Amino acid sequence: MRAWSDRVRREGERIALVPTMGYFHEGHLALMRRAKELADKVVVSLFVNPIQFGPQEDLAAYPRDLNRDARLAEETGVDVLFVPQVEEMYPPGFQTFVEVTELSKPLCGAKRPGHFRGVATVVLKLFNIVRPHLAVFGLKDYQQYLVIKRLVKDLNLEVEIVGHPIVREEDGLAMSSRNTYLSPEERRSATCLYKALLLARERVREGVREAPKLVEELSRFILSHPHTKIDYISFVDPEDLSPVEEISKPTLLALAVFVGRARLIDNMILEPNK
Ligand code: PAJ
Repeated sequence: MRAWSDRVRREGERIALVPTMGYFHEGHLALMRRAKELADKVVVSLFVNPIQFGPQEDLAAYPRDLNRDARLAEETGVDVLFVPQVEEMYPPGFQTFVEVTELSKPLCGAKRPGHFRGVATVVLKLFNIVRPHLAVFGLKDYQQYLVIKRLVKDLNLEVEIVGHPIVREEDGLAMSSRNTYLSPEERRSATCLYKALLLARERVREGVREAPKLVEELSRFILSHPHTKIDYISFVDPEDLSPVEEISKPTLLALAVFVGRARLIDNMILEPNK
């Protein structure tokens, strides 16, 4: 990987990296296409990163299909699909981690201890191995995007971070590799995340400003769908993720909801003055 990158860099070409855990869907492919527009060469990494999963989480069950992924990457015009093995990334004796302390605390960080430490560590390793000029991240994982931007700034990394809008199914469900966990009935319930975001946007347009009041309404709405369990419903500042009580400026509404065994996330920035 390094030899390829060094050669491409010597030839003066720009490299874009799209880090993924595979099982590609249209969201991943949109990131790859965006990367192609922004650089001469596109590298996609496919690595199901064990250190970002908690002990009770779905590492073993995480969906995988390398042949299909390789075909899709090739059809999308990806130059290199980089698929390191766990033993190569974390050989015996591995003990160095990087932590973006504050941005990793709220939302998913509070619910998944160690998750963003695992993400930041693997992404820094991938940046050091692939040496991209830029990297594309999806805004579906909004907190992850902020964590990576902060990592780059704080550690003076020479990588430009590009955020890409959330890609959705026709009925609004944000695409996710984890959607494959959903039964047909759960799949129908899963649309409640996006519907809740739209409901909140509507309420804000109507003039509602109190976040706690909205949390209550959204929570009732989500729980009226079968098989749902709320992990969090949070209104936060889109820059530092601090809690927002009164929606008087653009505010991130972030949701994490279990639908059956699938933990789904979604988010939207609500703009009170539009
Ligand atoms: P993964 O969940 O495979 O996602 C890879 C990239 O695709 C991330 O940047 C994610 O935000 C983006 N993505 C996923 N679904 C999307 C959607 N519906 N719309 C737009 N973008 C979407 O995120 C990870 O992997 C890992 O944490 C990783 C960064 C690779 C580190 O291990």
